[in-house]
Amino acid sequence: MSITPPTLATAPAPTTNPLREGLRIERTPAPCAMVIFGASGDLTHRKLMPALYDLAVERLLPAGFSIVGFARQDMSTSVFRAHMRDAVTQYARRAPLDEAIWDSFAAGLTYVRGDFTDVHAYDALVAELERLDRERGTLGNRLYYLATPPEFYGPIAENLGRCGLQHGPAGSWQRLIVEKPFGHDLNSARTLNNTINSIFDEQAVYRIDHYLGKETVQNILAFRFANGIFEPLWSRQYVDHVQITVAESLGVEGRGGYYEHAGAIRDMVQNHMMQLLSLIAMEPPIELAADPVRDEKVKVLRAVRPIQPALTHRFTVRAQYDRGFVHGSEVVGYRDEERVAADSTTDTYVALKLFLDNWRWAGVPFYLRTGKRLPKRVTEVAIQFKRAPHLLFHADTAEPMEPNVLALGIQPNEGISLKFAVKVPGPTMQLRSVNMAFNYGSAFNITSPDAYERLLLDAMLGDSTLFTRRDEVEQAWRIVDQIVAGWETAPVTELPTYAAGTWGPQAADRFMQDDGRAWRQP
Ligand SMILES: NC(=O)c1ccc[n+]([C@@H]2O[C@H](COP(=O)([O-])OP(=O)(O)OC[C@H]3O[C@@H](n4cnc5c(N)ncnc54)[C@H](OP(=O)(O)O)[C@@H]3O)[C@@H](O)[C@H]2O)c1
Repeated sequence: MSITPPTLATAPAPTTNPLREGLRIERTPAPCAMVIFGASGDLTHRKLMPALYDLAVERLLPAGFSIVGFARQDMSTSVFRAHMRDAVTQYARRAPLDEAIWDSFAAGLTYVRGDFTDVHAYDALVAELERLDRERGTLGNRLYYLATPPEFYGPIAENLGRCGLQHGPAGSWQRLIVEKPFGHDLNSARTLNNTINSIFDEQAVYRIDHYLGKETVQNILAFRFANGIFEPLWSRQYVDHVQITVAESLGVEGRGGYYEHAGAIRDMVQNHMMQLLSLIAMEPPIELAADPVRDEKVKVLRAVRPIQPALTHRFTVRAQYDRGFVHGSEVVGYRDEERVAADSTTDTYVALKLFLDNWRWAGVPFYLRTGKRLPKRVTEVAIQFKRAPHLLFHADTAEPMEPNVLALGIQPNEGISLKFAVKVPGPTMQLRSVNMAFNYGSAFNITSPDAYERLLLDAMLGDSTLFTRRDEVEQAWRIVDQIVAGWETAPVTELPTYAAGTWGPQAADRFMQDDGRAWRQP
């Protein structure tokens, strides 16, 4: 096995390199320049710059790698570098900051001031990118990252197009990474796709869903398709139902203005939960490459049975958090949050029952729930299997037998557990459920790379497997739009509430009880 040579001359060899271990031989991206639109914002500070620095520590960045920060604030390159140093010191995975690596990394950081909507501001960007090609050998390869408020995604793409920045010298590449949210509904997502695709080919567009950068989300593919024993069970014949939970203990954290227009359905269901659903339910792809994987994922979304507006109440529950206690601290209700209307009917909790109209999953309900101000932050997918066809041991069990459950923990505990029944030692045939558990952290004894590290590296390498394709985004919006349309046919003045720090409204429990099932307590 050959190991790629170091690319940052000053970087000392790291002791372990999780991205290089295992069966995969890592490639090093070609030299390139990355432009971060919104470089003075929160995402750049907390996620992008720390992830890029961590990639530098791992020696996974190409020689001459350069970053141009672009935003409205007036600041010099040296002030920008100082801000980025603070960001890396505070948030990078590899701490403390290594001065030699930082110096080498910071030498490639520059700042261009401008307004996104002012086409003339891009002249300075063009000049800076040309300088980087000459002086740092970036070869005309560009990665444009839209870390900006969503209303600027279209205008920036158009201005890049006006300046010809979507093209470069023969053999070079230009790619556009777009943050979430991608549209507000199907129409706006289509319009944005049309704008972007009129300038960048679809192969050059990388729509981020950072959930796909998480190790354990990728592990769903490995678990399903690298093991022969689970796939035969992965269908309507053996699966009773699937539960997907994305629980947050946080509230809206000052983002009330955005959240009022999004709600849990747009903020979580349209993107992260639809991605988890498609990875769990997809057919095996013909190869592990961008289009074969995304072809299978999009088929799942297309198979989601439409919910007729008049029946929406039978397939969905929505609610809003009221005041309560989370991790022992008292917190306000949603309507008392900043920039939230006192009579808001925005959902902070959503539960859904979806069916997939295809051969594998006919008749198997997929229950999805997500909420803010739940007791803890946890993301989990649980496959609950059908019971044994004939219960030999029923008479002697002290408690009702629990079904077999395979739970895939995505965060914070990354791992897999399988619940099954065993005999309790003793003279009677008493049964109890036990868990066989695999835990990522203890099994490999390394910290997983941050999702943004993996995604940024993949984008530089031109691998869009873990990015959302145009048709996936639009299919996910089709599902969400239909649900929202159902809610709008029967407008309410009040939503059911749940006390902050509880697992959601009673209506969500009844929703499951009516089907003879119950939510898991992850
Ligand atoms: N923050 C996160 O953790 C997170 C997570 C997931 C997704 N996202 C998405 O990432 C995107 C960025 O989020 P953020 O939290 O980083 O936003 P933010 O903190 O508000 O940053 C916005 C950035 O855009 C710049 N900007 C705004 N209007 C501009 C204009 N007209 N011309 C030039 N620059 C302008 C700001 O520059 P000035 O300060 O110079 O005005 C700032 O650098 C959003 O779409 C968000 O939904 C963020």
